[in-house]
Amino acid sequence: MSFNLQKIRNDFPILSRKINGYPLVYLDNAATSQKPQQVIDCIVDYYSNYNANIHRGVHTLSQEATDAYEAARQKIQTHFNAKEAFEIIFTAGTTHGINLVASGFSEILKKGDEIIVSAMEHHSNIVPWQMLCEKTGAILKVIPMNEEGVLIISEYEKLLNIKTKLVFVNHVSNALGTINPIAEIIEKAHRVGAAVLVDGAQSCSHIKPDFQKLDVDFYVTSAHKMCGPTGVGILYMKEELGNKLPPYQGGGEMIAEVTFEKTTYAGLPHKFEAGTPNICGGIAFGAAIDYLNNIGFEAIEKHENELLKYATEKLLEIDGLKIYGTGPNKTSVVSFNIEGIHPYDIGTIVDKLGIAVRTGHHCAQPIMDFYKIPGTVRASFAFYNTLEEVDALVNAVKKAKMMLS
Ligand code: ALA
Repeated sequence: MSFNLQKIRNDFPILSRKINGYPLVYLDNAATSQKPQQVIDCIVDYYSNYNANIHRGVHTLSQEATDAYEAARQKIQTHFNAKEAFEIIFTAGTTHGINLVASGFSEILKKGDEIIVSAMEHHSNIVPWQMLCEKTGAILKVIPMNEEGVLIISEYEKLLNIKTKLVFVNHVSNALGTINPIAEIIEKAHRVGAAVLVDGAQSCSHIKPDFQKLDVDFYVTSAHKMCGPTGVGILYMKEELGNKLPPYQGGGEMIAEVTFEKTTYAGLPHKFEAGTPNICGGIAFGAAIDYLNNIGFEAIEKHENELLKYATEKLLEIDGLKIYGTGPNKTSVVSFNIEGIHPYDIGTIVDKLGIAVRTGHHCAQPIMDFYKIPGTVRASFAFYNTLEEVDALVNAVKKAKMMLS
């Protein structure tokens, strides 16, 4: 499909909404993406025509739902180039996937083991590891970043040693947009025998990671940032690690055999999928991946880079405006402040003009502490945004500045 922006925008019913009498300019895509009609139709079709529980019934509806759910798993496997479909575990989202891995390692790590996170993580890729350290006596180390919001790899190298067991890093920073050099980070961790978990919540809507090529051990992401529904995501884990980790939750589906004397567990992926899953969510995640691939990630990246470049140039023309996250490799996120003005006030005024941005610490307080700021205004662009919407943002920010200075 060629990149026809108007045709793409027509797929998103919400984009024709008005907010406070102005056309909606949705620039909060890093919080959640909007959903195309194709994904909405997939959800309606499931509940209208073949809603049933999966892996449990011989009846036709159950078979149809099971087939669709497992077809979605295979689609996701192919998209990310995982070796096996059973290495894709359906979760409730990125946070769930991270907590599942942290819980498993609470039975493996020992006192004095070391684990590494980066300075630009979302709280969901910090707090579970702090909890893991409290439980096990493992030690948490942090890869620092520089003023540009780029990780200092020479400092990372110094942290690695034979005590390092795990490394956690996001592929893309939600607050800054920085794309981290995860291939290099993984390769260096593997040299000391450490496993790496990559938080891909902010990357997968912009770029297409190749799990086998990266040789990543764990990769987590959420459907809702990729035009899919909320409440569903995936945890990829290499087969050998999946076999090593204990189950996360006990329940139906995750067992081989249950007696009151002893229960044995199912193999991957069911070992980690206790209970009735988000069946419709999984199927709709597959539809969202089809939708994105139909546009093509090359075209998505090209358009989003254009939006990023234009927005950066235009916003920097405003006196007193500072952008946080100025590294050379970024996705389409612009985090900024205007001297002397609280980000919340800018967010409130631009909303009155129909523009949705996120304000605050973006669940990344250590980044805000690093820059000694309470938060930022964050405009995050998707492939369905336009250059005219960037102009609307810039004009609204100028107006807010005039009103608040
Ligand atoms: N983590 C999401 C964000 O950055 C919610 O907005």
